[in-house]
Amino acid sequence: MTDGSFVGTPAMPPRTEVPRPVTAQAERHDYAADTLPFERPATTAPAVPPASSQPEIGATGRPMPVFPVPGPVVEGRPARVVSMCNQKGGVGKTTTTINLGASLAEQGRKVLLVDFDPQGSLSVGLGLNPHEMDLTVYNLLMQRDVTLDEVVVPSGVPGMDLLPSNIDLSAAEVQLVHEVAREQTLQRVLAPALDQYDVILIDCQPSLGLLTVNALTASDGVIVPLECEYFALRGVALLKTTIDKVRERLNPKLEIDGVLGTMFDGRTLHSREVMERLVQAWGDTVFHTVIKRTVKFSDATVAGEPITAYAATSAGADSYRQLAREVLTRWPDA
Ligand SMILES: Nc1ncnc2c1ncn2[C@@H]1O[C@H](COP(=O)(O)OP(=O)(O)OP(=O)(O)O)[C@@H](O)[C@H]1O
Ligand SMILES: [Mg+2]
Repeated sequence: MTDGSFVGTPAMPPRTEVPRPVTAQAERHDYAADTLPFERPATTAPAVPPASSQPEIGATGRPMPVFPVPGPVVEGRPARVVSMCNQKGGVGKTTTTINLGASLAEQGRKVLLVDFDPQGSLSVGLGLNPHEMDLTVYNLLMQRDVTLDEVVVPSGVPGMDLLPSNIDLSAAEVQLVHEVAREQTLQRVLAPALDQYDVILIDCQPSLGLLTVNALTASDGVIVPLECEYFALRGVALLKTTIDKVRERLNPKLEIDGVLGTMFDGRTLHSREVMERLVQAWGDTVFHTVIKRTVKFSDATVAGEPITAYAATSAGADSYRQLAREVLTRWPDA
């Protein structure tokens, strides 16, 4: 992986959208050529000869591996804790938490989702009413007599539970400042869950404040969802710096599990270019699985269900099932 130093990415020139074969090998993109699209050779062979021996090229421009069907759960291991993190808003953190969680549960993993965003979107996205929650993550963090079991609720998906949140959590960001070991508070309250679950996914809020630092301190890994849109690349270096600082000062085991391209539209040159830059900068940290843009995700949120239940046979559901298989190849024990 490189140092992710693409904050100062060069400005892209204005250009005309010209359809190109999606399947072309991961050619190094020539930005200047965008302005001269018709100077490309007019008579070229079909982009991909229908040779069955040739590996399929995925949306990231790399050959697509086949992800094995996951084996059974390794008993007696503590849960793998993973934060869904990006300080940019609306990039698919909550959608990925819900749907990756549901797909891992389909693979027989016992999953706990932690809503660690005062917006409470994860809780609402699973059908909870933010005004009708007796106890939330806020109580768990701030009141020593509240136990994990009192706050956990079923998510509606078999094998997947939820620690819900609502706007109360915003007060924790301020109050935690005065606590001893304030960065380790979430880690401390999640400790009893490590033996009860195989995977714990923490949905972070779009900021790099104390709540997110708590999530990173409690985690083994980070997944960075990133919208396939040019401005989405800006700010990723700052996120990486924050992750590095947490690893150095608070949590030496913290790893970046992967960068996930979301809201990808393979019909646009723009999406493909962003994906190409992502792979240039982050190499194999970028998941082969890419989540395409589809309104089904918004529809599923309104229905309060994961897409794997709302539209079980849709392409979106299949993508998250594939992501579950891919992440399990990266997690040695989960
Ligand atoms: N692949 C997708 N295609 C189309 N829409 C999507 C996709 N993924 C997520 N969305 C929609 O985009 C919006 C933002 O997604 P989401 O809430 O998951 O982002 P987020 O990063 O959690 O946002 P925030 O930073 O506010 O917490 C939601 O309305 C969601 O339904
Ligand atoms: Mg969110």
